[in-house]
Amino acid sequence: MNLRIRQLTKHYGTTAVFANVSLDVSPGEFVAIVGESGVGKSTLLNCMAGLDHWDSGTVQCDGVDLGLLGDDARALLRRQKVGFVFQAFHVLPHLDVAQNVGLPLLLQSAPDPARVQAMLDAVGLGELGARLPQQLSGGQLQRVAIARALVHRPTLLLADEPTGNLDPTTAALVMEALISQTRTHGTSLVLVTHSHTAADRADRVLHLHADGVR
Ligand SMILES: Nc1ncnc2c1ncn2[C@@H]1O[C@H](COP(=O)(O)OP(=O)(O)O)[C@@H](O)[C@H]1O
Ligand SMILES: [Mg+2]
Repeated sequence: MNLRIRQLTKHYGTTAVFANVSLDVSPGEFVAIVGESGVGKSTLLNCMAGLDHWDSGTVQCDGVDLGLLGDDARALLRRQKVGFVFQAFHVLPHLDVAQNVGLPLLLQSAPDPARVQAMLDAVGLGELGARLPQQLSGGQLQRVAIARALVHRPTLLLADEPTGNLDPTTAALVMEALISQTRTHGTSLVLVTHSHTAADRADRVLHLHADGVR
């Protein structure tokens, strides 16, 4: 996806979270975003997905101005083009692993068990489709979340500190799955991370400050 952000500014009440954020992400590009805690990284990522509102500036996804879309149109665009991975895995506890991963396809009325299985194989969970989330480790749960975020072949993957809750060895495995899957499919990746090893693998590292990115 071509993601284009210009002069984005966001306040909570009278406090500015960030101001004058401008950045571009090209199709297939991997951009890491780093910055102090509380500087607005999660808020910025939510704006990129059209999950949050901003005060001024623009967010364009492949030329479509998200600010001009209502909530339904934003949701539709997300469903087609965007995947999201959070720090806390957000896997649905009552669905098994394959059902969790298949959810984005079901939302598009296009269930595809073969694709779900291929996605599970790709992240090393091929044997675990019938398991419930409570029977998985943290690293496995995050790989379920990655498979679910990519199963509908989005052109943009947004990941918010996806290894923040994992031990270093597991974090490396999860990061490998994330990067190899996005590289293989030419998916643009915007990764918020505190990990230097992860940021080192990005095409570009952007530092978010209260007054912009640089
Ligand atoms: N719903 C909210 N209402 C008021 N302030 C918020 C809300 N959500 C986040 N904030 C504030 O906005 C700032 C940025 O938060 P966040 O995007 O979570 O930062 P980061 O991800 O960089 O740690 C923080 O100061 C936080 O306290
Ligand atoms: Mg955050």
